[in-house]
Amino acid sequence: MQRRDILRLLALSPFLSAARAAGLEPLPALSQAATQPDVELELTAAPRAVSILPGAQTNLWSYTGRVVRGPATALQAIPGSYLGPVIRVRRGQRVRVRFRNALPEPSIVHWHGLDVPERADGHPRLAVGSGAEYVYDFEVVNRAGTNWYHPHPHMRTAYQAYHGLAGLFVVEDEEERALSLPADDGELLFVLQDRRFDAGNQFVYAGGAAEGGQGRGMGRGGMGRGGMMGMMEVVNGWLGDRMLVSGRVQPTVDVDRRTYRVRFLNGSNARIYKLAWSHQAPFTVIGTDGGLLGEPVSQRFLTLAPGQRADVLLDLSGVAGGTSLQLQSVPFPSDAVGRAGMMGETSPVPQGAALVLATLRVSNRQGPRHTTPARLTVDRFQPAPNAPVRRVPLTFMQMNWLIDGRTFDMESVTPAETVVAGSTQIWEFVNQPNPMGMAMAHPIHLHGRQFRVLSRNGADANPLREGIHDRGWTDTVLVLPGETVRVQVTFSQFPGLYLYHCHILEHEDMGMMRNFRIRPA
Ligand code: C2O
Ligand code: CU
Ligand code: CU
Repeated sequence: MQRRDILRLLALSPFLSAARAAGLEPLPALSQAATQPDVELELTAAPRAVSILPGAQTNLWSYTGRVVRGPATALQAIPGSYLGPVIRVRRGQRVRVRFRNALPEPSIVHWHGLDVPERADGHPRLAVGSGAEYVYDFEVVNRAGTNWYHPHPHMRTAYQAYHGLAGLFVVEDEEERALSLPADDGELLFVLQDRRFDAGNQFVYAGGAAEGGQGRGMGRGGMGRGGMMGMMEVVNGWLGDRMLVSGRVQPTVDVDRRTYRVRFLNGSNARIYKLAWSHQAPFTVIGTDGGLLGEPVSQRFLTLAPGQRADVLLDLSGVAGGTSLQLQSVPFPSDAVGRAGMMGETSPVPQGAALVLATLRVSNRQGPRHTTPARLTVDRFQPAPNAPVRRVPLTFMQMNWLIDGRTFDMESVTPAETVVAGSTQIWEFVNQPNPMGMAMAHPIHLHGRQFRVLSRNGADANPLREGIHDRGWTDTVLVLPGETVRVQVTFSQFPGLYLYHCHILEHEDMGMMRNFRIRPA
């Protein structure tokens, strides 16, 4: 398998040359890439028991890793957490990951945010069975930023991610290093997730096709536990009633009087957060899904939908020692997210509920204060007003969420979903309520490419709007009910079959996902 993957990778080299010719960053010779990765990791997905609540351990699924070659810092375990180790690599490094599936069912890993060849993207058709392995070989072409990894098997993504399979994938580069941002102890990793537990401390989840089941969406087959109420909760996106940050329930984090860099990931299946600090300080946003912004943006609220990341500076140097601050999600009406049914609210802690996610306990120790750089990076975005516009309706029909009128089909692509490597298009996501007035907010994610939001119209009064800034590169854009959002995307140089989908993972598994095919230029 390994040799075959290497041969496949070598077969891609003409396209890498094309990428170079197209003016992308210089890429070192590829022949060495296949034989000599800079970083080689082993990543295993397996059942494990972890203490989350007092009392019984929670049986879950988790990634563990080992560095086979390269710096030990390439993997950073999060002690006591079910989250997979943080993978930390540098731009330009060649990475090989040997994924071992020790789960009782098929799985495959997707590197969310990374621009990788088709073979390395974790498409569900590449899932490997229980006990099997899959070898990823790719070069890190992304610039510095906070990405993540999670499973992507057919109709089991939501189930597997909910049961613990997720981790951060951090890319570093020289440009970012030159800014001397807070690092090491000055970095906080906040992965936001919600879960429901039963009386025995086990995860409660109603979604997901039965193991080995072939049902499509919620319409037939794949219901699991929970009956009608459970079904509506899955169609709306499954919500937990306990908030976890990096695997701990509402943790208290000891911090010093210094500047922190906080990397946020919304790793929840369906919950949207409208974040705020309890001491009213604004977020100093320095980066988005796709890395550093041109310049920092200051905002009181930070809306983060499933799949999205934010990179933020938090200056606690002027806060009195002994103070406790909270990371909150401020309340908003659940209509801001919308729902599919007429049944009203069915979740124990609905979308928009006021939440405390974590408490920061400030010590008396004074640490380094970093002034926020006025300029962070050179923003290379070039508007292409004459690029072709593709209209992509997001709709709800017969208990199915649709993209451009269709649900997922493993290999199928329409002509509109076929694009040329390196070409630029404007995709216009139109989130239309159905004739019954039903619509939901959908975080729409494209594999393999960071894109830019050009405009959003139609939901200006939605309270989630004030936490959205739309500056910078992103791979997941929240499209609110009734809203039309235009994005400009320049497709990757790597040809092949890639996915775009709603990142409410229950919607994705129900089929709110489509392929797009990149044809060689
Ligand atoms: Cu984070 Cu296709 O997903
Ligand atoms: Cu992705
Ligand atoms: Cu959705």
